[in-house]
Amino acid sequence: MRLALLGPPGAGKGTQARRICQTFNLVHLSSGDILRTEKMAGTAHGRRIRDFIDRGMLVPDSLMLGIMQNRICALQQGFVLDGFPRTLPQAKELSRLLKHIKRPLDLVINLDVPMDVLSRRFEGRRVCPICRDVYHIDSNPPVKPGICNNEGSRLIIREDDMPEVVRTRLSTYKKLTAPLIEFYATTEADRLVTINSAGQPDEVTKLVFAAIEKRRASQISHNGKPETAA
Ligand code: AP5
Ligand code: MG
Repeated sequence: MRLALLGPPGAGKGTQARRICQTFNLVHLSSGDILRTEKMAGTAHGRRIRDFIDRGMLVPDSLMLGIMQNRICALQQGFVLDGFPRTLPQAKELSRLLKHIKRPLDLVINLDVPMDVLSRRFEGRRVCPICRDVYHIDSNPPVKPGICNNEGSRLIIREDDMPEVVRTRLSTYKKLTAPLIEFYATTEADRLVTINSAGQPDEVTKLVFAAIEKRRASQISHNGKPETAA
């Protein structure tokens, strides 16, 4: 299957994408994680990216499309897109690309969370600098406080989780990314599902998995098998 997750910063895209990939054996493509890895590399490319991320602004479409297109085309397996597409030009170009390679999205999941709930998520988020796993000091704490369950490394706070940067990220979302919900409602109405993601992570996961199973069942009832094996 091929999925895309929409939702504002802090909606739980990374958290749910990891769970989906583990359960349904898909590849997780997080545009934010890919950019942060480039940024850490400290190359000229990475420095350019750092300027945008640290200010909470979007990396230009041309740069982002180049980065994601190569990775998507290289995949033989199904995948979950997390954080991409994020602007109308990105969404249109993604649709064009996937149509061209005959691997359209099976499902677009919009994680809907009220803005007042989001601030608590940023305040408590901790991430592993090695495996990029995401924790929360209250809703999803690691077994040992401050330490990654997988790597044993010290968890860090993301640089763009500072309140002033979060404000810019949220307003950028409203202006440039929220219109994608309407885009998919118009172009892929039967593949768009909105999920209330204000509940606890496990409750949201149940709803997300149910939506994926429902989509798979509808593909099987139409075609006798899932539309897309990969
Ligand atoms: P990116 O890394 O994609 O950040 P984002 O979209 O702002 O989303 P977040 O990663 O902050 O949140 P999330 O939805 O993944 O939530 P999470 O699961 O962590 O992008 C970063 C930057 O890169 C952008 O600002 C931009 O500069 C650039 N960029 C990326 N993609 C781009 C693109 N396509 N084009 C241009 N530029 C791009 O959860 C948040 C916290 O809440 C965690 O602590 C988690 O444990 C907790 N939590 C999760 N779910 C729940 C729940 N249900 N209840 C309680 N707590 C929860
Ligand atoms: Mg994320």
